[in-house]
Amino acid sequence: MAKDFTILGIESSCDETAAAIVSADKSIHANKIASQIETHAKHGGVVPEVAARAHLDMIDDVIAAALTDADMTFDDIDGIAATAGPGLIGGVIVGTVAAKAIAAARSIPYYAVNHLEGHALSGRLCSDIDFPYLLLLVSGGHTQLLAVTAPGTYHRMGTTMDDAAGEAFDKCAKIMGLGYPGGPAIEAAAASGDAKSIRLPRPLRGADNCHFSFSGLKTALATKLAQLGGVQTAPIHDLAASLQAAIADCLADRTKRAMQIFATQINTETTNTTNTLVIAGGVAANKAIFARLHTEADAAGFQIVVPPAKLCTDNAAMIAWAALERHDRPDQLDFDPRPRWPLDPDASPPPGRGVRQ
Ligand code: KG4
Ligand code: ZN
Repeated sequence: MAKDFTILGIESSCDETAAAIVSADKSIHANKIASQIETHAKHGGVVPEVAARAHLDMIDDVIAAALTDADMTFDDIDGIAATAGPGLIGGVIVGTVAAKAIAAARSIPYYAVNHLEGHALSGRLCSDIDFPYLLLLVSGGHTQLLAVTAPGTYHRMGTTMDDAAGEAFDKCAKIMGLGYPGGPAIEAAAASGDAKSIRLPRPLRGADNCHFSFSGLKTALATKLAQLGGVQTAPIHDLAASLQAAIADCLADRTKRAMQIFATQINTETTNTTNTLVIAGGVAANKAIFARLHTEADAAGFQIVVPPAKLCTDNAAMIAWAALERHDRPDQLDFDPRPRWPLDPDASPPPGRGVRQ
């Protein structure tokens, strides 16, 4: 592929309308993100129908702004990629229809990208890492450990049995009156709190598998908050710091187990002699979690890669990049959007109820 092969990426699967322009040599010419946070904050979370309408209002302007930022026109674009799932289907439809229309009008290839694959490959957009690598994907809807062997080839080693880590941050922030989105709000409150002051559980610590569980942590936090007199009197900063430390410990413990398995059973007969841990998804923007995982990776002899915050939270540069990774395999224009789209369809479900794929 020519190193200047350039793709316009579109992301609209949750509460961000984003467009980015990326070339095969990893140049990011534009990375525009229009957030709907203010629209949804008053409801305490994303309202799907409101989100879909907001995507529709913003998409044309965001694409135009990306072209302006890059100082490009559609003549400079060689392919169009859009998130085709998983996510809130109304928003996904808005992004994919826009992308398909541009692809048809310009007679250029169209790529239907899995949003999770965008996160999974974002480490390769910002660093020169080889396959295979171990991926901790921590977003608002997913918490998974995956061995990434090639674009499109994933082996899921662990997943959450209930809530995702980002979901735990968001729900606990709501309980503590810290607003939406919860992760950044809890990180800010935790900065002036004592992480050792309130004892919270570490679900599944030491378990032989690589699965996660966060809903018990949420219940434990709600119970502590009530015991301490509720949001008016409880030491919210200490609670936030203690919760953040508990989530960091759980992620570190489960990732430690996955690193053992990856190093001894998966990356054994490959030419890649470096064991790498990539952390991706919105929760990867949390500095305390990064520090905790960094210590664990060092101890296991893994190098650690975390994309910069702008590429960790939802963005369209990762969508364009996921398409560039398989630029010679575009999709047909009749590709249907998918509300659910697991990276490893063959993964067996973890024990327990309320299983997420
Ligand atoms: O990947 P992402 O932007 O969207 C999804 O695909 O879900 O992740 C959003 C999630 C939210 O749950 C948000 O609270 C969390 O990432 N998040 C954080 C931080 N920034 C975003 N969690 C902890 N600390 C942060 N600094
Ligand atoms: Zn995401």
